[in-house]
Amino acid sequence: MHEHTPESEELREKVWRYAKYRLDLQPVPLDGPVSFEQLAANGRGTITEAGIGGDAALEVFRDVFAPASISVDHPGYLAFIPSAATEAASVFDMVVSASSLYGGTWLEGSGAVFCENQVLEWLAAEVGLPTGAGGTFVQGGTIGNLSALVAARENAIYELTQAGEPLPARWSFVCSVEAHSSLAHAARVMGCDIIKVPVDDGGRLRGAAVEATVDDWTNVFAVVATAGTTNFGIVDDLRGVGEVAHRHGAWYHVDGAYGIAGMLSPAHRHLYDGVEIADSFIVDPHKWLYAPYDACALIYRDPAQGRRAHTQHGEYLDAVTSTPDWNPSDYAIHLTRRARGLPFWFSLATYGVKAYRETIAYNIAVAQAFADVIRERPYVQLVREPELSIVVWERIGWDQADYQRWSDMLIEKQIALVTPSSHQGRVNTRVAILNPQTSLELLTQILDTMAD
Ligand SMILES: Cc1ncc(COP(=O)(O)O)c(C=O)c1O
Repeated sequence: MHEHTPESEELREKVWRYAKYRLDLQPVPLDGPVSFEQLAANGRGTITEAGIGGDAALEVFRDVFAPASISVDHPGYLAFIPSAATEAASVFDMVVSASSLYGGTWLEGSGAVFCENQVLEWLAAEVGLPTGAGGTFVQGGTIGNLSALVAARENAIYELTQAGEPLPARWSFVCSVEAHSSLAHAARVMGCDIIKVPVDDGGRLRGAAVEATVDDWTNVFAVVATAGTTNFGIVDDLRGVGEVAHRHGAWYHVDGAYGIAGMLSPAHRHLYDGVEIADSFIVDPHKWLYAPYDACALIYRDPAQGRRAHTQHGEYLDAVTSTPDWNPSDYAIHLTRRARGLPFWFSLATYGVKAYRETIAYNIAVAQAFADVIRERPYVQLVREPELSIVVWERIGWDQADYQRWSDMLIEKQIALVTPSSHQGRVNTRVAILNPQTSLELLTQILDTMAD
């Protein structure tokens, strides 16, 4: 299995050729889900004592499993939050695998860790956090939010303990009703309560609403604002919310998993005023920073707080945890870790920050232009004015079944993946425009299919 032989070399060439073929596809196929029965009929029995051989495994992947897995980089993949990695990021992802890197400790991966940290440093500076801010890349926004909230609670416990004060029997944190589901999940995992605050008519959480909703702050360890909500792409009043959090001694976390990338567009930077007072924030390069799955940058204003919360101790780990070295494992809920920030680092280093600013601004411009088209059509209406690159609208007169039939038709015809969504009990649909190849023409074509 580990020897280099002429056969292994031949297989390696074939796999590389396949990877190159996939990277070269222009356009990529959208593909789509296939029934379990069909997959079972065509793709079962690949795991055997003797092995089916690389050729057969590659063939079944290419012919059966790949077409049954949607290409998230297709310009028509517009549901949920798409991912459209740059070419440099995608190819470098293969280098990360080929190099057998370990990204958990300085001892084992100082070069990779230094590289990742340059990206974190740049992100922290863009957001306006002071020098010294830092953290680590984790798998995704869900783990990023959870890790930040765990650090926030640990910090509250630490401060109360230092002051000799009693700890609450049960903790809570605050976020808006529009916050991502990962926050409710974090509360469940942490065994704490969540206080949900209403948003204003524009979908924005404001400091005054937090102040009006929370009447007892004794159990509150954190307030979370969202910089780009998942449903609508709305940026909360980051300064107002943060100031209220700090006035009451709570940690201020900003969930920018999708939307912090929007602040790279110079014309939209003002929307993020106040983000620089955050105690922690996250942003997912696998969302709107054109990196492949999976990578979330988790950054603390004071990394020592993250480290105190997350360092694991064990005899076999003493060699790394007893040193002052920077070990990414110490900053989140993980230990073994892939150096998952490297594909993004390579892409950023290759193309430069300006290219990112321009591409993100372009995505927003396409979203705004699409909203204009929706406004002109009598059979559709915007649910909310788009702020970043997410557009949500209703087809007048349609019910859930109509949306579902339409969505099925789009995928059946290999045009797009756009799914039904809802807001306050009313069904609608939404697109998240994160792919630079998603054009206004394609979006208009999709809208045309709603006409009859
Ligand atoms: C605002 C926000 N936070 C958190 C998440 C969770 O991120 P992940 O899916 O990477 O866990 C998402 C995902 O869409 C999101 O939009």
